[in-house]
Amino acid sequence: MRVHKKRLDILDNVATLKKQQKSIGFVPTMGALHKGHLALIQRAIDENDRVVVSIFVNPTQFNNTEDLDNYPRTLEDDVALLSKISDEIIVFAPTPKEVYLDDIKSTNYDFGGLEHEMEGKYRPGHFDGVGTVVKHLFDIVCPDRAYFGEKDFQQLQIIKKLVEIEKMPLQIVGCPIYREDSGLALSSRNKRLTQRQLDEAPLIYKTLKQVKNDFGTKNVTNLKDWVSEQLNNSSELELEYFEIANTSNLKSIEQKQKDIEYRAFIAVFAGEIRLIDNIALN
Ligand code: PAF
Repeated sequence: MRVHKKRLDILDNVATLKKQQKSIGFVPTMGALHKGHLALIQRAIDENDRVVVSIFVNPTQFNNTEDLDNYPRTLEDDVALLSKISDEIIVFAPTPKEVYLDDIKSTNYDFGGLEHEMEGKYRPGHFDGVGTVVKHLFDIVCPDRAYFGEKDFQQLQIIKKLVEIEKMPLQIVGCPIYREDSGLALSSRNKRLTQRQLDEAPLIYKTLKQVKNDFGTKNVTNLKDWVSEQLNNSSELELEYFEIANTSNLKSIEQKQKDIEYRAFIAVFAGEIRLIDNIALN
């Protein structure tokens, strides 16, 4: 399996594939790969001639240096895992300098307001960092299709917007959330949870499922109060936000209207570790 650390090497590899008219599927990751990533990669393998996986912990999207420092970095294990799936996968595992060249900083984007909701409020600058790195990676890898999980639903919508703004000729493919049997959404951050936190974390999805169940009959304020109560009862989890939002513009609502699609979004702390999840409501 090819593992490129240098921008020039991956550019060369991509140029050869383009000459051979091979389609390229791309799965950008920050490593610490789990089954959720593997599902994205399998879909990319099924739909493209070749697949590139990037493994890069992007410094510009962290608004908290402790989170950046503690983010799991497991390149050797990741590469070993990928080689079990297919030797044909191309891995791009660059340093920040290879991605950003001499200018390791974010572009200020206007994503039409999507960036000001939920994660945008609690993680200032996060989506500028995501947009900037994804733009750089798309410029390097030139994929035909790129794959993102719906766990980061707001990120997925923002990347679709980025591609529109930058007029980039590729398809963004959103893939369903991959969950443990307990219902906990897979995340690289789960690796840092203690056993007690792991035991309580399934409450997040359980709560979302109950909200979906009650969405037809209860009003938004009652649902929000109920969610706060559930999380208050947990000794390991602390609610940061719970919102019900319009799926297309991600604006939070207080009252639902007919014929609009809604999703519920939640962010929770388990100690220092921040977990997010979401669910389609109708
Ligand atoms: O979802 C992620 O892992 C990251 O935000 C991404 C898209 C790889 C950009 O660094």
